Amino acid sequence: MSLFKKTAAKIEEAVKAAAQAEEAKEKETCDMLHVIDHPLIQHKLTIMRDKDTGAKDFRELLVEISRLLGYEVTRSLPLRDVEIETPLTRMTGKAIAGKTLAIVPILRAGLGMVDGLLSLVPTAKVGHIGLYRDHETHKPVEYYCKLPDDIQSRFIIVTDPMLATGGSAADAVRMLKDKGCADIRLMCLVAAPEGVKAFHEEHPDVPVFTAALDERLNENAYIVPGLGDAGDRIFGTY
Ligand code: PRP
Ligand code: URA
Repeated sequence: MSLFKKTAAKIEEAVKAAAQAEEAKEKETCDMLHVIDHPLIQHKLTIMRDKDTGAKDFRELLVEISRLLGYEVTRSLPLRDVEIETPLTRMTGKAIAGKTLAIVPILRAGLGMVDGLLSLVPTAKVGHIGLYRDHETHKPVEYYCKLPDDIQSRFIIVTDPMLATGGSAADAVRMLKDKGCADIRLMCLVAAPEGVKAFHEEHPDVPVFTAALDERLNENAYIVPGLGDAGDRIFGTY
């Protein structure tokens, strides 16, 4: 084989390997993104997106969707056998084993997803991380953090309805990891592709559960079509 052909073959091999690596990375990212598009969720989310939906309905729908999403987010909770006696016979049933749960909303909007999860797991502890997005830079600014003492030994669900640039969620998860937490998942309502990508670049080990993956971010880093400012719509501060 001529030197030219050998070089061309090597380049082709390297390009193929790079494409395969990219494909594997994309698949890994897809495996960590769960779009929970159950018809009930889609129906409720459409009402939430409507600009004419007021704060009361918006809040109530967010609680309902959070409960439905919570069903999927908690699917991987480990189980243990328990011996019980029914009115008819003895049997081995199942109970949640091991780690207990912590819900960590990112303030403010993440608060709107807490009650839905608490209705599923009433004994969960709730930590709070306060972050707001600077209007100019779109970068998150931390202003509060209060977590359960044993947070690092818990199964953690971070909640925030909006994953836009991904900055707030990535910072919140970094704060939890800095405290030794390892078993973390992120539950949101609407995500932008840019946000999912940025979040998984920093936290490839954290699964993201969302009700919708929207088209894109606009020039103000708002999700399109989105639903506007989630915090303002929950608390009526527009
Ligand atoms: C919103 C939202 C997320 C963040 C998403 O919060 O609830 O926390 O923006 O944007 P990002 O992915 O680009 O970081 P906001 O800063 O408006 O605060 P609020 O919840 O108090 O309204
Ligand atoms: N925060 C929101 O509340 N909505 C967006 O679309 C982006 C960030």
